Amino acid sequence: TAGRAYAIASIPGDGIGVDVTREARKVLDRAADRHGFALRWTEFDWSCERYTRTGSMMPEDGIDRLAEFDGILLGAVGFPGVPDHVSLWGLLIPVRRAFAQYVNLRPVRLLPGTTSALAGRTVDELEMVIVRENSEGEYSEIGGRHNTGQPSEFVLQTSVFTRVGVERIIRYAFELARTRAGRVCSATKSNGLIHSMPYWDEIFTEIAAGYPDVHSEQMHVDALAARMVQRPDLLDVVVASNLFGDILSDLAAAVTGGLGMAPSGNINPPGEHPSMFEAVHGSAPDIAGKGIANPVAQILAGAMLLEHLGQLDAARAVHAAVEKVLAEGAVATPDLGGTATTAELGSAVADAVG
Ligand code: NAI
Ligand code: MG
Repeated sequence: TAGRAYAIASIPGDGIGVDVTREARKVLDRAADRHGFALRWTEFDWSCERYTRTGSMMPEDGIDRLAEFDGILLGAVGFPGVPDHVSLWGLLIPVRRAFAQYVNLRPVRLLPGTTSALAGRTVDELEMVIVRENSEGEYSEIGGRHNTGQPSEFVLQTSVFTRVGVERIIRYAFELARTRAGRVCSATKSNGLIHSMPYWDEIFTEIAAGYPDVHSEQMHVDALAARMVQRPDLLDVVVASNLFGDILSDLAAAVTGGLGMAPSGNINPPGEHPSMFEAVHGSAPDIAGKGIANPVAQILAGAMLLEHLGQLDAARAVHAAVEKVLAEGAVATPDLGGTATTAELGSAVADAVG
C-alpha cells in the first residue's frame, strides 16, 4: 500500500463543516506524506448553500460522480432556512443508500485531556462503538398524511426491517466484537414495537448462536441509555436500528468529550462502493464563521478513512497525534476550555503527526 494514490472526494458542506474538513485534510495529507502514500482530493461544493442557489443539494449525476472514488470525507450539511429533511434526503440518505453504506460506525472513546460528563471515568472504562443500521428501519419514506385539515387527520410512518438488512448489521457487530473486547449488546424495544423489534431480536438470537465466543445480550433502548451513563464500562459493541443508533450515538458522544470529538463512518463492508466518513456533529450555525470549531471529530473521521483504505500505520499515527495534543492541553478550542482556533488545533495535530 506504500506509494499508492487514493482518489478521495471531499464534501465540506456548510458552516463549520468547511472549517473542520480543511483541518482534517491538513492532518491526513501529513500522515500520507509520512507513510508513503498520496491522497488525491476532489472537492465538491454540495451543500445547503448550493441548494439555496440552484434548488438542489447535489447535481443529478452526483451519485455517479462519487462512485469512482476510493473514499468520501463529508463535513456537515445544514443551514438556517433550509429544512433539515432537505439536506438529509437530498444528499446524506441518497449517498448512504446508493452505496449500500449499511453500517454506520461510531467509535466512542474518552480522550486524554477531556473531562467526561461522567466524573471519574478513565480512558479504559469508556471505549465502545455503536454499530447503527444505516439503510432501512425507522427512516423510511413509506407512509403519508391523510384526511388533511379534517378533525380525522392522521399520519402513518412505516418502518422497514428486512431479513437481509437486519442479518448483515448484526453479523457485522459480532465480527467487530471479535476484534475488540468480545461483547455485543443489542438495542431493542420489543415491548412497545411489537412487530419490528421481536423480529430484530429473533435474528439477533440466531446470529449470536454462531458466535459462542462473543458475549451477547439484549436491552431495551431506554435501559441501555441509562446504562451508557451509569455503567459504560460494561459496553463494548452496541448494535442498534437506524433511529435507536442515531440517538444512542449522540448520547455516547455527550458522555465522552462532546460532539466536537465524535467521528463516524458510513461503511459499505464488501467494498463494492465508496464509504463515507464524517464527524457526528452538524454545521453548528451558532459558531459557524468564527473559526473556533473543534476539528478533532473530523480528524478522527479522517483516521477512520485511512483505516478503511488499509493504511493502518497512518491511522494510528493520526490517533496518537490527537491524543498527544489533547493530553498536553496547550492548544485547545473553546469547547475544550481553551482559546485556540480551529486552524491552530488542526496544525498542532498535523505537526504532531510528524
Ligand atoms: P450541531 O452538531 O451542528 O451543533 C450542536 C451544538 O454542538 C452546537 O451548540 C454547536 O456549536 C456544538 N458543536 C457541534 N460541533 C462542534 C465542534 N466541532 N466544535 C465545537 N462545538 C461544536 O447540531 P444542530 O445544532 O442540531 O444542527 C445544526 C445543523 O446541522 C442543522 O441544520 C442539522 O440538520 C445539521 N446536521 C447535519 C449533520 C450532518 O451533516 N451529518 C448531522 C447533524 C446535524
Ligand atoms: Mg444524529
